[in-house]
Amino acid sequence: MKLSSKFTLSSLMSAVLLSLSMNASAATTLKLSHNQNRAHPVHEALQFMATRTAELSGGELKVRVYPDAQLGSQRESLELVQKGALALAKSNAAELEAFSKPYGIYNLPYLFDSKEHYHKVMESDIGKQILESSKQNGFIGLAYLDAGARSFYTSKPIKTPEDLKGLKVRVQPSPTAVNMVKYLGGNPTPLAYGELYTALQQGVVDAAENNIPSYTLSRHSEVSKYFSEDEHTMVPDVLVISSKVWDSLDKKSQETLQQAALEATLKMRDLWVASENKERESAIKQGSTFVEVDKAAFKAAVKPMYEALEKEAPETYKIVEEIRKIK
Ligand code: GCU
Repeated sequence: MKLSSKFTLSSLMSAVLLSLSMNASAATTLKLSHNQNRAHPVHEALQFMATRTAELSGGELKVRVYPDAQLGSQRESLELVQKGALALAKSNAAELEAFSKPYGIYNLPYLFDSKEHYHKVMESDIGKQILESSKQNGFIGLAYLDAGARSFYTSKPIKTPEDLKGLKVRVQPSPTAVNMVKYLGGNPTPLAYGELYTALQQGVVDAAENNIPSYTLSRHSEVSKYFSEDEHTMVPDVLVISSKVWDSLDKKSQETLQQAALEATLKMRDLWVASENKERESAIKQGSTFVEVDKAAFKAAVKPMYEALEKEAPETYKIVEEIRKIK
């Protein structure tokens, strides 16, 4: 009797353990890589997306977020995503240009009239088509995440394009960004984000450009005290998913991810405004100066860039014209 109750108990225990591990393995966990630290609003938006994914799927689908480029730089993460070795990555549209050309459009200076225009374009059919443009290249865009306007920063004010003359300016690895800095008179130097602090500190580059939260939270503000608000571009961040992983998911999981990503896009808009204000104040407290800039001279300097585009890439130029019509 004793023996048999022991037996029953132990078989019950193994049944419970077995069912627990089966539950654990029934849940799918997708890894998500990004290159900002935990204080950056992009991390909060992606964590929110992870929470919503778990909630919407009743715990069956999970997203685990790896910040600080722990799983590699943006480029390295995108290469893993292409192979299906990593499910999700957040990348700036600038870096995506090398993987799928249509993303290059977002790197054109002064393309958008306002923040509202920028949001409307991302929500438009053009915005959606750009997200789908990379399917054959190994990934699909799931959502845009606001990344504000980018401006130049260095150890002196940049009030006109002449102030960039002779400066080595770090740009993201994007052909359009390289081109833009040439038109503005600087010497473009493409570098990965993670290498930039040291490059600025050691004078490998003289200047860089980014949005306010990234300027402060990456501590570039410690080594470049003047942030000149020429706001030359508005380049969104994009959450992408591996085409291989996407195709392996059932319809319900795909819809869950799409819904969670959409909610993250909307949440990021508010997070972004709050973070810009907070990080501007924080940089000022730490000794940075924000310089007001008359954008007219910058806009004039990049006008020939559009003229060249019209001649050399008329198809892309047509999209620019469509974008200008969106009001
Ligand atoms: C922004 C963007 C990052 C990008 C960085 C850069 O901060 O959010 O995704 O890596 O710019 O300049 O490289």
